[in-house]
Amino acid sequence: MSCVLAIESSCDDAGLAVFSSEAGILYESTQSQLNLHRRYGGVVPGLAAREHLRSIPLLLEDLRESRNMVSQGSRDVAEINRLAVTTGPGLAASLAMGLQAAQALAAAGQKPLQGVHHLRGHLLSAWIPLFEREPASFHSRYSDFLPQLALLVSGGHTLLLELEAHWELRVLAATVDDAAGEALDKGAKLLGLPYPGGPEIEQEALGGNPHTYDFPKAFVKAEDRKFSFSGLKTSLRYLLEKIPNEAFPSQRADLCASYQKTVVDTLCLKTRQMLLEKRFASLGLSGGVAANGLLRAELEALAREFSIPLLRPHPRHAGDNAAMIAFAALMDPKHTQASPALEPSWRL
Ligand code: KG4
Ligand code: ZN
Repeated sequence: MSCVLAIESSCDDAGLAVFSSEAGILYESTQSQLNLHRRYGGVVPGLAAREHLRSIPLLLEDLRESRNMVSQGSRDVAEINRLAVTTGPGLAASLAMGLQAAQALAAAGQKPLQGVHHLRGHLLSAWIPLFEREPASFHSRYSDFLPQLALLVSGGHTLLLELEAHWELRVLAATVDDAAGEALDKGAKLLGLPYPGGPEIEQEALGGNPHTYDFPKAFVKAEDRKFSFSGLKTSLRYLLEKIPNEAFPSQRADLCASYQKTVVDTLCLKTRQMLLEKRFASLGLSGGVAANGLLRAELEALAREFSIPLLRPHPRHAGDNAAMIAFAALMDPKHTQASPALEPSWRL
């Protein structure tokens, strides 16, 4: 049995998790820096790193306290015998804080340390619920769900990937400019909503009509194996210039609903085109934007249409978290670094 302690600090969230190959998640905690960055309208790298320096020791302290508590009453609490840490891609200074802490822990406990790719963590997060259903049979069953068509949508990435046996992967489509989450964040800013914009737009859209405005979609043809979201943001800016100030408040919900629907429809259109091209055993959804209710519902419908299961993370594992890093280290050691080094631009 393996039990791994993982640290995630690639951007503005610090996460700590303990994951056992037999019992699943034994501990997890995420420290968000939202309130710190919100007033600047986005993540300030220097501030993020300084905050990680403060919060990672606090998370470790909390883990020590709760582990003492659980270990007295539960046989499940295993000894941590490995460590894992996100080494890229991400903000260099933020990643460095997690790596330093993990290296110190590994040296003190004389335990091996694995460097994990942040996006492989997101991809694997969609498989955690499947693992939790039957941990003992996961290794013999997971290949039933491969090859998987995986949609990874976060603040920095928009990718359609083919996930194959032994967690090998192939990029089928990527964005040529803004990521889906970035499009929502930038759109929200134009609409006077705070950072991060994805959940704000989703909330505001609840009271709006998604068919009010017709925003452009890029690369709609099946042979266009790419996404683009920067034109969408620009068209929102031009539209807003035409709306009189006094009319704006009454139209914001419709604007949000229409804008969100365009992002979601674009993602689903490309996903559908890929599903028509090849037979996949499952559909996967991951990344911060996977928390979006409309996207989840639309992908659910798509999976039903093609009669394949949709694997998606628990909502708390859609955004950055350490449980997905621990899980990737346990399930896919081959694609981790045995001697972790910072890789801020680590490619898939
Ligand atoms: O994966 P993540 O936490 O960080 C990166 O690795 O980028 O993703 C953050 C992104 C942000 O753009 C945020 O606006 C978006 O995920 N997001 C959402 C929702 N929650 C977070 N987008 C749409 N709907 C949501 N509910
Ligand atoms: Zn992420």
